[in-house]
Amino acid sequence: EKGGYDHFMIKEIHEEPKTVRDTLNPRIKNDKVDIEELGMTDEEIKAISRIRIVACGSAYHTGVTAKYVFEEMARIPVEVDIASEFRYRNPILQDNELVIAVSQSGETADTKEAVRMARAMGNMTLAIVNVVGSSIAREAEKVMYTWAGPEISVATTKAYSAQLIAFYLLAMKFAEVRGLLGEDEMKSLIQDLKKLPEQIEMLLGNKERIQKFANRFVAAKDVFFIGRGIDYAISLEGSLKLKEISYIHSEAYAAGELKHGTISLIEDNTLVAAVATQDNVYAKTVSNIVECKTRGAFILAVTTIGNEDIEKVADYVMYIPQTNRYFTNSLAIIPLQLFGYYVSVGKGFDVDHPRNLAKSVTVE
Ligand code: F6R
Repeated sequence: EKGGYDHFMIKEIHEEPKTVRDTLNPRIKNDKVDIEELGMTDEEIKAISRIRIVACGSAYHTGVTAKYVFEEMARIPVEVDIASEFRYRNPILQDNELVIAVSQSGETADTKEAVRMARAMGNMTLAIVNVVGSSIAREAEKVMYTWAGPEISVATTKAYSAQLIAFYLLAMKFAEVRGLLGEDEMKSLIQDLKKLPEQIEMLLGNKERIQKFANRFVAAKDVFFIGRGIDYAISLEGSLKLKEISYIHSEAYAAGELKHGTISLIEDNTLVAAVATQDNVYAKTVSNIVECKTRGAFILAVTTIGNEDIEKVADYVMYIPQTNRYFTNSLAIIPLQLFGYYVSVGKGFDVDHPRNLAKSVTVE
């Protein structure tokens, strides 16, 4: 049932090109984004005053990416909340605030309760969910399914990628309705989205190189992931992927925050994974890389083809193909998932069933 793969996790990583295609294609019609199941009028979309995203774990991380995308593309303010925090603090929602819950399983207790509360407050709720007919899908007013198929490995991979696609589509739709995305720009964004599956395929072709690299870090004690903006959002997920299956302590930081405390933890050969795909903050992240390197860090950089100058400051580089700046996380996540996977394999761990973790957290 693992289809010739050693673990479900690596099988599911290989399913990502298909997952992206299956989540994307049904919602693109005549060079436009058409999310039928959304059932929102243009007036309703224009009236959204704020978006509130509630989720846990990796699903929360897709929400962090979505915040950057929605705010920049559609100019709608976004708050991202950890569901277990939202539900216990008497949260404040605006009248026209759209609440989006994200969940692979559709059964996460805290996320489900957050949706119930939002509904009780009279807000419109939309669930981005992978499991058809799950509790969260039934609780929310509207559902947008991620068509990733069953995900078995406890560490999420393909559902995460599908959630990103769902968010991009929503942001594009909202931006268009609100008059912020012209026809040509829409076309070019759609073209870039359509290229993602083959670009992911390309990245998967490099897995042996990543495995070799990962084997050098099986004894690592601490790892830090850094990035700015959308690159920070992917750092959160890269760090979680590594720690949950390899049991290596790992943290993600907005790169500019490092010098406010954490940089004192950097020692000789501490691995710092720096994600630098965003042109507007590239130079800033490079200067953070230099700060870490000066203190002895071993630098792994994840950047876009064309940024070869990064080799002057990084010890090892993983390149991703060119795409629109909004979509880089869909590519950058691939080497980071592979890295976490191969470190865990290198340590001989039960990759699909990390200790203490359950696939779906139905109790708080
Ligand atoms: C990490 C992981 C978890 C889930 C989280 C939410 O790899 O899988 O962090 O993302 O438990 O689960 P769902 O998406 O089912 O609500």
